Amino acid sequence: MRPRAPRGVLPGALGLALCCLCGALGPWRSGDHGWKKLIMVHHWPTTVCKEIENACSDPPDYWTIHGLWKHEWEKHGTCAAQLDVLNSQKKYFGKSLDLYKELSLNSMLQKLGIKPSINYYQISDIKDALASVYGVIPKVQCLPPRQGEEVQTIGQIELCLTKDLQLRNCTEHGEPRSRRWGDAWPARATAEGPGLEVCEDGPAFYPPPKETNH
Ligand SMILES: *[C@@H]1O[C@H](CO)[C@@H](O)[C@H](O)[C@H]1NC(C)=O
Repeated sequence: MRPRAPRGVLPGALGLALCCLCGALGPWRSGDHGWKKLIMVHHWPTTVCKEIENACSDPPDYWTIHGLWKHEWEKHGTCAAQLDVLNSQKKYFGKSLDLYKELSLNSMLQKLGIKPSINYYQISDIKDALASVYGVIPKVQCLPPRQGEEVQTIGQIELCLTKDLQLRNCTEHGEPRSRRWGDAWPARATAEGPGLEVCEDGPAFYPPPKETNH
């Protein structure tokens, strides 16, 4: 896929995260178990640096796993503990790394021709392209445009899994396509960093890693 023609030019952690939606609120919550999907959360480091307003030098030019491990385990591991395949830190992080490799988001994006660019992508094009390779609908999160910016910036790509670790749609019947901060969007309490929201349909910036000027 090639980015659309420029309509303007913009200036851009391992997180594990096999997050499960502990205590998630919402109509898609499953019975008494409280959660029914796992989320593999990929971060785009250049956007993370921007989000936390840290002028990281030479951020990785590949998608990493969201989060800090100890924190992720404390925050999400307790619900993962309900699953035999994930019920220890070793299994939880080991499985996350296995999934990260199996899903190989970086090479998929490369094959799809989705590369960091000063041109913009349409969010729907990216979602459709990912859905075509994974067979399920991902969730893409963005930083909303800041002052002086025209478009949102892509920050996270989530792929959702069932408790059996099979890929599944991140959205489901009856679930709104997009929820804003302040609503009971369950991922807010789990996977999202400060400032990230479900991307709006429309153009988005996928920022190349910043050149560092020494
Ligand atoms: C995933 O979403 C697509 C598009 O809405 C739908 O056609 C498909 O049936 C869904 N798959 C599952 C397993 O719900």
